[in-house]
Amino acid sequence: MLLTLAASRRVLFLGGKGGVGKTTVASALALAQARAGRRVLLVSTDPAHNLGHLWQREIGPARVRVAANLDALEIDPDATVRAHLEEVGAALRQLMPPHLAGEVDRHLALSRDAPGMHEAALLERIAELVDEGLCGDDLLVFDTAPSGHTARLMALPEMMSAWTEGLLRRQERSERFGAAMRNLGADDGVAERALGGTRGDTGRDRDQRIRQVLHRRRHRFERLRAALADPALTAFVIVLAAERLPVLETIELHAQLRRAGVQVGGLVVNKRSPADAGEFLAGRHGQEAVHLAHLRRALPELPLQELPLLAGDVVGLEALEAFARRL
Ligand SMILES: Nc1ncnc2c1ncn2[C@@H]1O[C@H](COP(=O)(O)OP(=O)(O)OP(=O)(O)O)[C@@H](O)[C@H]1O
Ligand SMILES: [Mg+2]
Repeated sequence: MLLTLAASRRVLFLGGKGGVGKTTVASALALAQARAGRRVLLVSTDPAHNLGHLWQREIGPARVRVAANLDALEIDPDATVRAHLEEVGAALRQLMPPHLAGEVDRHLALSRDAPGMHEAALLERIAELVDEGLCGDDLLVFDTAPSGHTARLMALPEMMSAWTEGLLRRQERSERFGAAMRNLGADDGVAERALGGTRGDTGRDRDQRIRQVLHRRRHRFERLRAALADPALTAFVIVLAAERLPVLETIELHAQLRRAGVQVGGLVVNKRSPADAGEFLAGRHGQEAVHLAHLRRALPELPLQELPLLAGDVVGLEALEAFARRL
């Protein structure tokens, strides 16, 4: 199921509860697709990155080659927030009269730690990577942070578009105001001062630049939203363990994603206990079957794949190759 799903999509998100195997499955899947000849980019959006640990090498915010056809990177949330606020700040400063520049700076300093800021910045980086990836790569695999966070993130393009939209409307109003002033015969200096313009920077030039920044942003979020909502392009895969809480959270995550307009392409039940390795594990296997039956009643139509519990951890290329063969 996983391999056919991945082969027919350009963007995959892997999500689910903490510790269920998102990073392991995302890495193995990316590797399998790279081995099949596709150019793949593996991206960790989890602030508590562990791609580096799994691949046993340094992986940072810039793409590095981890295997033939396969690059990986870990989004750096702090650097992303900084870049995001710089761009927002530049747009706001141009929108506001110069004497309010101090206000803008204070607002941005507070925003750095505001709730949602990391998510907004993360989302912007994801949007950028999807834009770039759809041009230069065959497949993007996103390894995401534990559940709640990711569902909120998927709903965010909508909110961010609305926010940018609001800024654009304000900017259009101020532009109309400027034009009205000029038409009323007020000299350009008056119109400029009213709009907070500076000498050597005509209102029209400045409006044009703000508009460019805001439009670029809006279009980026619109493209991401369109990509997320296109089931032929993107699939979200929920990874879970066959235990009570992960099953309940999977059902909830599925509902949240649906509300955000993101279709779940499949479920991966990882670390499935064997039925034939002694009484204890056979008991576990039976208990897991009860939880999985509940899952199937709640989500009967979703493709589901089980992956076995292994004796050892999955660390390093060789272990990943072996795990990829089990997909
Ligand atoms: N099928 C498996 N059998 C045995 N161990 C596994 C299996 N899949 C993953 N593991 C191990 O489970 C641990 C957690 O896996 P992983 O880091 O992929 O989970 P995660 O969902 O990404 O966790 P987090 O939510 O913390 O990011 C790792 O030590 C990994 O080696
Ligand atoms: Mg992980």
